[in-house]
Amino acid sequence: MPEEPIGVIGAGWVGLATATGFADLGHHVTVRDVTPERVAALSAGVVPIHEPGLAQLLEQNRDRLRFTLELDDVLESARIIFVCVGTPATYSGEADLSAVWGVIDELAGCERELVIVMKSTVPVGTGERVRRRLDERGLAHVGYVSNPEFLAEGTALANFRNPDRVVVGSFAATDGDRVAALYAPLAAPILRTDVASAEMIKLASNAALVTRISFINEIANVCELVGADIEDVARGIGLDRRLGPHFLRAGIGYGGSCFPKDASALKQLAANSGYHFQLLASVIEVNELQKRRVVQKLRDHLGSLHGKTVALLGLTFKPHTDDMREAPSLVLGSRLLAEGAVVRAWDPVARDVQRHFPDGVELAETPLEAVHGADAALIVTEWPELTELVRSEVRDAMRTPLIVDGRNMLDPTAVRAAGFTYEAIGRPSAMVTELNESRNESRLPF
Ligand SMILES: NC(=O)c1ccc[n+]([C@@H]2O[C@H](COP(=O)([O-])OP(=O)(O)OC[C@H]3O[C@@H](n4cnc5c(N)ncnc54)[C@H](O)[C@@H]3O)[C@@H](O)[C@H]2O)c1
Repeated sequence: MPEEPIGVIGAGWVGLATATGFADLGHHVTVRDVTPERVAALSAGVVPIHEPGLAQLLEQNRDRLRFTLELDDVLESARIIFVCVGTPATYSGEADLSAVWGVIDELAGCERELVIVMKSTVPVGTGERVRRRLDERGLAHVGYVSNPEFLAEGTALANFRNPDRVVVGSFAATDGDRVAALYAPLAAPILRTDVASAEMIKLASNAALVTRISFINEIANVCELVGADIEDVARGIGLDRRLGPHFLRAGIGYGGSCFPKDASALKQLAANSGYHFQLLASVIEVNELQKRRVVQKLRDHLGSLHGKTVALLGLTFKPHTDDMREAPSLVLGSRLLAEGAVVRAWDPVARDVQRHFPDGVELAETPLEAVHGADAALIVTEWPELTELVRSEVRDAMRTPLIVDGRNMLDPTAVRAAGFTYEAIGRPSAMVTELNESRNESRLPF
């Protein structure tokens, strides 16, 4: 396909994956961000986020990528501009669109022919509002396309190259054609829709994913009470072709920069439109409660946590990213401190940890240092390094060899054989088994 100069606004996960992905397909891409350090770092070939493969791909395509603080540099060359700025949650749970509107207002000064492509996740109806604002300013020649992003951090580049689908929602078919053409080399299904439907596909997809997560977590919680093993149960569910195996990993719940805010934004959008989204409200509540269940597991074994040392292992919201936004570790760290525990945290890539945590969390360089003298190790993020916990050196270093595995990443048989007490999510626990046996004994026979 012919080379098309592209502009990208916002150099975060989505902006950088989009920019390097299109550069790799042969396009010249100008990326604008408002953070001077970020632009300086990228211009010097330093990637400011932890995303596997990104630094190499950027290096390979350096001659087609340009980073700038100036919007004019983007407008000078590009006629298709992808908006990839953040849309965090506001206090009311809605999406904060201030960065989006900032970009639209800047672009609206442009007299040239242009297509604005919204990749940021926005509430349904945003495109319609943007279209109105552009028209009011006499900018009917500026096109608008909704092209929501579905990448996952940690696999962002693979997701760009091999997406499950590309959604292109447009007001004018010709604008949609231009955006769809950019994705043609990827051989992915391209779904053409109106703008509102494209916006809804993004929010509904994330709502479906978090619903599966909360569903399997609730099944896990019931498994704990009835003596079933969630790992086998999830495998059995996932083999059903109607259901599939994805997003059936029980654990301490979802976090990150997208799921919590997008679920909340859809719930709020529905409420503002006069509909109480009962299911999504429950999904969100289940997730909040799920994070705290591991604290109760610690209490079950240790009694009061006051003065007890807990190693908090893994801080980022998932492995292979340094993103700390809405990470369950933040809730757990605060909760443990509030219970009077000494919290010693470890993570291989998390940055600015002290900024995210309340005072009092100690930082360890290695998992072994974190568990030294600890009463419990709490696995929060399934970093592969944590499989190394199952060693006699670790067991002997701990005051109490208790592992609470919030991600079901370890093999219970191996961990127990190594001399640890092991608790996971939705898996038989020595304590519960004993309790059930004593309950059964005390029941009257029928
Ligand atoms: N991170 C993900 O996994 C993911 C996946 C799918 C969709 N999304 C959505 O994509 C959007 C971007 O997410 P992200 O994680 O890449 O965000 P991010 O916070 O990592 O990056 C946003 C970038 O935009 C920059 N920015 C803000 N205002 C700007 C402006 N006026 N001009 C230029 N740059 C500006 C910020 O400095 C920042 O570098 C969000 O709406 C998010 O919901 C994110």
